[in-house]
Amino acid sequence: MSQVLTLQERMEGEAGSDPLRQAVKEAVAALAQAAVDISDLTCRGALAGITGQAQGRNTDGDVQKDLDVRADQIIRDALGKLPIAALASEEMADLDILNPGAPICVAFDPLDGSSNINTNMSVGTIFSIMPTPSDVNAAFKQAGSAQLAAGFVVYGPQTSLVLTLGRGVDIFTLDRVDRVFKLTGSTVQIPAEATEFAINASNRRHWDLPVRAYIDECLAGADGPGGKNFNMRWIGSLVAEAFRILIRGGIFLYPGDARDGYEEGRLRLVYEAHPMAFIVEQAGGGASTGRKRVLDIVPDSLHQRVPLIMGSIKNVQRLEHMHTVPDVALEANAPLFGNRGLFRV
Ligand code: AHG
Ligand code: MN
Ligand code: MN
Repeated sequence: MSQVLTLQERMEGEAGSDPLRQAVKEAVAALAQAAVDISDLTCRGALAGITGQAQGRNTDGDVQKDLDVRADQIIRDALGKLPIAALASEEMADLDILNPGAPICVAFDPLDGSSNINTNMSVGTIFSIMPTPSDVNAAFKQAGSAQLAAGFVVYGPQTSLVLTLGRGVDIFTLDRVDRVFKLTGSTVQIPAEATEFAINASNRRHWDLPVRAYIDECLAGADGPGGKNFNMRWIGSLVAEAFRILIRGGIFLYPGDARDGYEEGRLRLVYEAHPMAFIVEQAGGGASTGRKRVLDIVPDSLHQRVPLIMGSIKNVQRLEHMHTVPDVALEANAPLFGNRGLFRV
């Protein structure tokens, strides 16, 4: 490819002389630089001392792998030099207040999909950039719609960075020769409807009725009320599922379920669901809990979990519709959802 814009060139064009946008630009550049270093570690694996071994637990009780700890340190080192009011990480108990007078705050999941590290599967980094509120302690208690920018990196066969500044979605690919990200996709649009779903189906018996009804409809395929055959994928890394959905559409679900501790699903609102929802909406898709828009939710706490259903807008709307149907009707099932049925949308 000739004359491809680098991430830096692309950001220069966006930032102009506005101080807030300049701060966002510097933070994105630092996160991208950190991602190059994390990408090196994921590629070298055991040669760089990365084995995927558990190192203990973070303060929220999650098992911490070696790469979780290394990635967190790399990102904190990269961002710590910048004018940033507060940082929050999946791996830190509380937010870290750095420079309360600075205009932006950054929340991140340093390493997403850590159960995939030692199986040579895609993992990633997710980030969300917020404006600094008057009380910096409330930096990460703002609705997702307040985000200035959000992005994620996938460390897969290619290392890709997906970014929104609230004006569409761009995809950058790491050029390993120059060690910089280059623009390889702009104004990404998620197809409005697609026939691929992603959910951890081993939890089926714990799901609520609306989720079970939706997935049963997918599984019934052309013989069922939806009338279309579906394909299924489950990678176990939110970043990889999100990237696939940006490229070819479909729906991802990590709903709440009846297991202890999974009432609100597994994913975290501040540094997983909010940034993903921002990106997906900016690409024309939808992101919902099933009952409400993810970007409208104001977090109560830094590590709170939230059900996340995201992807092609029509698929997400169909799932939301299932949540409006009374349970008794869902229980009675199929005929009500037929093409000519009572509840068809
Ligand atoms: P993390 O590694 O940051 O804790 O996140 C893992 C998340 C997400 O990437 C993935 O979609 C989900 O956990 C997988 O959960 P299950 O193991 O329950 O399928
Ligand atoms: Mn994660
Ligand atoms: Mn993580």
